[in-house]
Amino acid sequence: MKGLICLGIESTAHTFGAGIMDDSLKSKISNSYESPIRKKGKILANVKDSYTTEKGGIHPTEAKNHHIACKDKVVQDALDAAGLSMKDIDLISFSQSPGMAPCLVVGMEKAKALSAEYKKPIIGINHCIAHLEIGRVLCKCKDPVMLYASGANTQIIAYDGGKYRIFGETLDNGVGNFLDGFARHMGLGFPGGPKIYELALKGKEYIELPYVVKGMDVSFGGIQTNLKQKFDSGKFNVSDLCYSCQETVFAMLVEVAERAMAHCEKKELLLGGGVACNIRLQEMCKRMCAERNAECYIPPNSVMIDNGAMIAWEGLIEFKSRGGDDIGKLDIKPYERTDDVKVSWR
Ligand code: ATP
Ligand code: FE2
Repeated sequence: MKGLICLGIESTAHTFGAGIMDDSLKSKISNSYESPIRKKGKILANVKDSYTTEKGGIHPTEAKNHHIACKDKVVQDALDAAGLSMKDIDLISFSQSPGMAPCLVVGMEKAKALSAEYKKPIIGINHCIAHLEIGRVLCKCKDPVMLYASGANTQIIAYDGGKYRIFGETLDNGVGNFLDGFARHMGLGFPGGPKIYELALKGKEYIELPYVVKGMDVSFGGIQTNLKQKFDSGKFNVSDLCYSCQETVFAMLVEVAERAMAHCEKKELLLGGGVACNIRLQEMCKRMCAERNAECYIPPNSVMIDNGAMIAWEGLIEFKSRGGDDIGKLDIKPYERTDDVKVSWR
């Protein structure tokens, strides 16, 4: 039986992405952290174009203009990569929430234009939940606690009582924005996470930093100020600062993830978000899981960073349970929270 093929459009922040997924084919993923695949759901294409700046930080209008300039090409490149044309697409999904309003609008307008022109159903979905569901289908995990560590977001999410609930989150910046901010201060450019990782590999000595876990939540503002002051004093080795920065904030993330696993009595941890590409964070998560007899699932980097494939996948599973949205009533929801979403597909 022919499955459904969905074109998913991502545009919450710096990335404009278009992904195509087929829900009837088995998937193979190539990644050193590959997990066996159980379910069907194959990525046919996953193309993206990201706005970057030398100085760092995302300027919403510049990101919007970036998306406007590349949107048609990214969608066409995804179709070409999959060897498909619009007539082969059964459904169009887009990230409706949460994100920067000017960026979200570009993705929604592109999705609406394609839906109207080719008479395809359309569905708007939540970006954070898409991070979780793509991990669930590509890895063999069933009911994980997710550590979602990206630029703008840092949340511990798990399915509980019919909803994806947030068990812990950042009280200020996302961990990625925190890393980017510190990197920018050191003149390292954007994105800063990978640059801090490289420097941290050369770090030898741990420098004491504030460790900020409040209940189940974390906060990075004070740590960032402290790091900047230490850097400005010129008294500390930069690699040691990067090393200590990673060790401290990743330990905070692992601590709250572990407590959520204990509280929910779940035996699976799933990683997502751009910062989850960090090998040191992955090592710490794997070690924590091994110590509590749990499994740690790490999807390929290409679906942990912002991407269209996860939007396509979330579109497919939601469409099968609740149908499409009314194009005339569709609007962006920049502030929707993970736990506001009615979960119809589980
Ligand atoms: P979201 O909209 O989900 O909040 P986002 O727009 O911030 O996501 P992502 O692609 O999920 O984007 O993540 C980007 C962040 O990931 C940047 O802050 C970047 O520095 C960080 N990052 C990427 N690779 C690494 C790495 N290897 N180590 C640490 N941080 C990384
Ligand atoms: Fe994201």
